[in-house]
Amino acid sequence: MRIADFALERYFARWEFTVEHIACASDVEGWSMAELVALADDETRSMWDGLRLGYTESTGHPLLRAEIATLYEHIAADDVLVFAGAEEAIFCLMSTELQAGDHVVVTWPGYQSLYEIARSVGARVALHLLREEDDWSLDIDRLVRSFHDDTRMVVVNAPHQPTGMLPSEEEWRRLASECSSRGIRLVADEVYRFLEHDARPALPAGADLDERAVSIGVMSKTFAMAGLRIGWLATRDHAVLDRCARLKDYTTICSSAPSEVLALIGLRARERVIARSRAIVGANLALLDDFFARRVDAFTWVRPGGGSTGFPRLAAGGPAGGSADAFAARLVEETGVLLLPSSAFGFDDSHVRIGLGRTDLRVALEKLENALA
Ligand SMILES: Cc1ncc(COP(=O)(O)O)c(C=O)c1O
Repeated sequence: MRIADFALERYFARWEFTVEHIACASDVEGWSMAELVALADDETRSMWDGLRLGYTESTGHPLLRAEIATLYEHIAADDVLVFAGAEEAIFCLMSTELQAGDHVVVTWPGYQSLYEIARSVGARVALHLLREEDDWSLDIDRLVRSFHDDTRMVVVNAPHQPTGMLPSEEEWRRLASECSSRGIRLVADEVYRFLEHDARPALPAGADLDERAVSIGVMSKTFAMAGLRIGWLATRDHAVLDRCARLKDYTTICSSAPSEVLALIGLRARERVIARSRAIVGANLALLDDFFARRVDAFTWVRPGGGSTGFPRLAAGGPAGGSADAFAARLVEETGVLLLPSSAFGFDDSHVRIGLGRTDLRVALEKLENALA
């Protein structure tokens, strides 16, 4: 298999575990084991205490699949396939559902796996640009106009990373129905679902809106447990899950046994888990609102509608300078604060991703502001 480097991961590989402040993370500050295990109910506590470290069921622990299914309206346990993170789920889905020559539309800038794996199998990938001048919004008319007669798949991540784009429910339903009526499979990357800002409700899941649509979920972001490496696909189209399961036999075979039980504990306690994440993200959004309101000389800020990232632009002629690459390099060297320049998305050299999920953002912003001076 030949595939281009995952630019964001290569950037993180250099910095993630050596810097003081990761001000561009997309996950929420992880739970500690002690805090998480304390949330167990009687059943999951005894599963945890009595856990034997053998192989697990390849499709995922039945109780975990059943619990994941409760995040959806029309999804049953059998409609869920568990993977090692959303990343493995995306890899298996794109590798099995797309072939050379297939036409696929993917929103961009965005998570590179969502289009790079398609490219690696020879699919014709059309990157659908989200425009800053439209506040990064999803223009359904323009998106639908980009469909071809032979478009097989449309991939949309919402809430969106890095921009925080969140369509309205009406727009989202319309997209699902446009895809459905054309026989196009909608792939909804919903790893930031339930992190909507300003009391906006979560969108209906893609897999609930259409029988062929596929929803991608993960424990890493909203549930703040990236270290579990538990993700999933949910769809009523069992042929998709079957093809993915056959490829998974060659990737991980099955999930980590401890991670499955811990994910089950986390999902059963999801009210508390989500409330904690929303509190962290909400407090950071308030900090950023204040910061960007004061520093219009340095950045242009489109406020995210959901998710745990935002994508400010360096103001031309401002104190951050004209190049996001150069600013991010100077910042991390001088202050230990890591921002992600937009070149990691193959996008441009004037935006940076900022993360809303970490509890040290206040300190990181102070250091960033000193660097501006
Ligand atoms: C939109 C999107 N999808 C999928 C993933 C993959 O999640 P994980 O790394 O937990 O597998 C990410 C991670 O950043 C993401 O931003």
